[in-house]
Amino acid sequence: MSNSNTASLDTKPLDRILASMPDAGPNDLVPILQQVQKAYGYLPKPILMAVSDRTGIPASRIYGVATFYEQFHLVPHGRHTVRCCRGTACHVKGGPNIIKAIKQNLGVEPNETTEDMRYTFETVACLGTCFLAPVMMVNNDYYGHLNARKIKSILERYT
Ligand code: FES
Repeated sequence: MSNSNTASLDTKPLDRILASMPDAGPNDLVPILQQVQKAYGYLPKPILMAVSDRTGIPASRIYGVATFYEQFHLVPHGRHTVRCCRGTACHVKGGPNIIKAIKQNLGVEPNETTEDMRYTFETVACLGTCFLAPVMMVNNDYYGHLNARKIKSILERYT
């Protein structure tokens, strides 16, 4: 996999990013990946391989950083991230019904993105706001004391 296949991807954004950081090294990986994600919406594999080729930073190191931080996505990500809690406090207050309602409304399973790239749905072990159980987040907004009937109108706010 040394010759990265970037044929289907526009490498101009990457050219610009690396041109702005001519001495980029391993310590610059987080800002490089942040800019790549901003430009492409996620971290496409061929682009990461090109980063490795051009900077000399080993691909294993790049993948290590890309998978360590939650902010980075290795697959295309929706414009909005819906995170629903599957933790115990939420579970006993009806969390599974909330997860079911989100799945029904979006037509996707956890860790999937809707075809129109509008939403990515994730479940998490705890959102740290158990007093709001059952709770979900859309991007940075918290929605607590949920019931399944509220889900549709909440999701529709995010276009
Ligand atoms: S268990 Fe759901 S927010 Fe903590």
